[in-house]
Amino acid sequence: MKYYRFLLPAFLLLSIIGRAQTKLSSFSPGAIWPDDKGVHINAHGGGILYNNGVYYWFGEHKIAGDAGNRAMVGVHCYSSKDLYNWKDEGISLSVSPDTTNDIAKGCILERPKVVYNKKTKKYVMWFHLELLGKGYSAARAGVAISDKVTGPYKFIKSYRPNPGQMPFYPALTPEADKVNCVNPANKSDGFFCRDLPGGQMARDMTVFVDDDGKAYHVFSSEENFTLDLAELTPDYTGHNGKFIRIYIGHQTEAPALFKRNGIYYMIGSGCTGWAPNAARWFSAKSIWGPWTYHGNPCQGPDSQITYGGQSTHVLPVAGKKDAFIFIADKWTPKDAIDGRYLWLPINFKGNDIEINWTDNWNLDVFKK
Ligand code: DGJ
Repeated sequence: MKYYRFLLPAFLLLSIIGRAQTKLSSFSPGAIWPDDKGVHINAHGGGILYNNGVYYWFGEHKIAGDAGNRAMVGVHCYSSKDLYNWKDEGISLSVSPDTTNDIAKGCILERPKVVYNKKTKKYVMWFHLELLGKGYSAARAGVAISDKVTGPYKFIKSYRPNPGQMPFYPALTPEADKVNCVNPANKSDGFFCRDLPGGQMARDMTVFVDDDGKAYHVFSSEENFTLDLAELTPDYTGHNGKFIRIYIGHQTEAPALFKRNGIYYMIGSGCTGWAPNAARWFSAKSIWGPWTYHGNPCQGPDSQITYGGQSTHVLPVAGKKDAFIFIADKWTPKDAIDGRYLWLPINFKGNDIEINWTDNWNLDVFKK
């Protein structure tokens, strides 16, 4: 009898160790994705930073149930050298127990993105922040910094970007194409003008660092009607006042930006809450535009709903040419922690992009 008492714990221990030791060598979009402890990765709406030969995945730590989309814990970080196997690095930014803090436990903290500033040698995390108990009305950008990539990150501030600033327009832009706050031409312009004194709304977002070290914050603004692309200050912890408005009035969310052969690409989505819709892509020869809309990059069955997902990041694979991974979240709002990740390779046809569904794939699809 006494031996039986040890059988169950021993079996559980062995199965945990067994699971933890299973090495992955491919991506299975939409499947449970176990970390080094055998637990499904909890980093939703995430972004990935490649730093000193290691990838760091930062994302929203969700909890079980339908309240799970509120930030009860913070931003979760994982690390990987091969992109298939991820080590749990813990919580890199914790929410505050102080209910008056901007990032109070129970607030909404979405789509965290971390970039490294070579000049200040700091890691800078930006995220979309909604204040505790105020639904989605605050629409702020939040920023936190750390000396160490995995954290802990220290929250600095949250605010609406670019108060009092008009958009940047290239020389020779006709007056008729500029926003006119005396007589706003459409709904989106109206929201822009309404928010001009206090700063523009900032919801779904990404951060992109260009080859020259300048960083840009791209965010859904004007009640999500328009995307703003705004330059950050040299230390990456603020906005310098220069920004453009992209695809005005067409409700683009979930922006993800990347660069290939000197061309800037952006993939985003429409605006349908947690339900999936068709992805959309844009390209531009200059970060300041003009940005050209190209429609849906996804092909085949379920392409009209991005295979059930919504973009969050495009990851350039280190050391491989033309190797970019489209990363989307398959949200499960009734049990947020069960959200899945869709990683799919981006195919280039000249300067056009295409995304196709595949059940299972690995990095060999990319040429060296
Ligand atoms: C879609 C956004 O992309 C998500 O980040 C989140 O804000 C949900 N909407 C909320 O409905």
